[in-house]
Amino acid sequence: MSPEPCAIRGGHGHPGLIHRFLDRLPFEASDPIVTLQEGSTPLVLAERISERVGAEVFLKIEGANPTGSFKDRGMCCAVTAAKRDGAETVICASTGNTAASAAAYAARGGLGCAVLVPDGKIAAGKLAQALMHGARVIALKGNFDEALELVRELTQRHPIALVNSVNEYRLQGQKTAGIELVEELGTLDALAIPVGNAGNITAYWKGFQEVGHSPRLFGFQAAGAAPLVLGHRVERPETVASAIRIGNPARWEEAMTAMTQSAGRIEAVTDDEILDAYRFLAAEEGVFCEPASAASVAGILKFGVGEAQRVACVLTGHGLKDPQTAMEQSGSVVPCPPELAAVEKAVLG
Ligand code: F0G
Repeated sequence: MSPEPCAIRGGHGHPGLIHRFLDRLPFEASDPIVTLQEGSTPLVLAERISERVGAEVFLKIEGANPTGSFKDRGMCCAVTAAKRDGAETVICASTGNTAASAAAYAARGGLGCAVLVPDGKIAAGKLAQALMHGARVIALKGNFDEALELVRELTQRHPIALVNSVNEYRLQGQKTAGIELVEELGTLDALAIPVGNAGNITAYWKGFQEVGHSPRLFGFQAAGAAPLVLGHRVERPETVASAIRIGNPARWEEAMTAMTQSAGRIEAVTDDEILDAYRFLAAEEGVFCEPASAASVAGILKFGVGEAQRVACVLTGHGLKDPQTAMEQSGSVVPCPPELAAVEKAVLG
């Protein structure tokens, strides 16, 4: 890897995605680029899932981004643009990951940050991140959809930059994941992806189109929060996959257009199906993602992949984000006194 991009950002290792994809993004090298070296995430073959669906299935491990989710791809761009354009504070509504990412990039860029999250409905790791990065965390007695409506109104009245995926820079950054997939795999027949606010699926489609590729988009929503599948808003969305507990996606129209253009489909998976895939990924593939991310794998296990021979599943967030669900879904620890015989028994079963 050439040393130049590293010199620009004063770091080592792979360049962040703005540097890597500078020719495809609305930035100049002279902009005040805010990066944590996001992007360039692992793409691993999932042998056991491949066997089960009868196609080659790859996992795009977006939990390997700096704050543990794909949001960093969009956030480095949204925060860089906010900083370049003179904003002092950024704000978002969030089910958790956007909040953690906004807080981290705002801290990195020297900006203030406020996040509105549904009270009691965000995973512990995400809350810890937002707080540690110094964001003002506001627990709304309401759901994500209400929070988004409120921050949209607030940013009409105050000079605060909105960094939800209604912000075009978010999609610009997130499209790079689609481009990475095509660069690495050459061809790709289908993409399986969890859908909440519908920004990410829209961004992948944008990325694919830019490099002249049209894999079928298989979008999966949680059954209790599946407005795109039902064709109407869900007033009280509910799912164990708290990241996608959304009843009125902001990018509704664009996501449906992308789905149609790609000859794809949008389907619902139940919480039980999501949790089965979540445990399977961890126990059989060695990949720990958060519940919402497992919806992509749950979807292809349930509905198959049609004629597709090569499929990528987007694992959007890291399993450590939600330790509570993990502990509820896994085995218990083995208590043991500090004696060899007891340890022997405990180890050998
Ligand atoms: N997976 C995870 C882990 C997420 O955090 C999200 C969205 C999605 C999938 C869905 O992506 O909204 O672009 O369709 N999380 C947002 C948040 C809503 O606030 O962190 P989407």
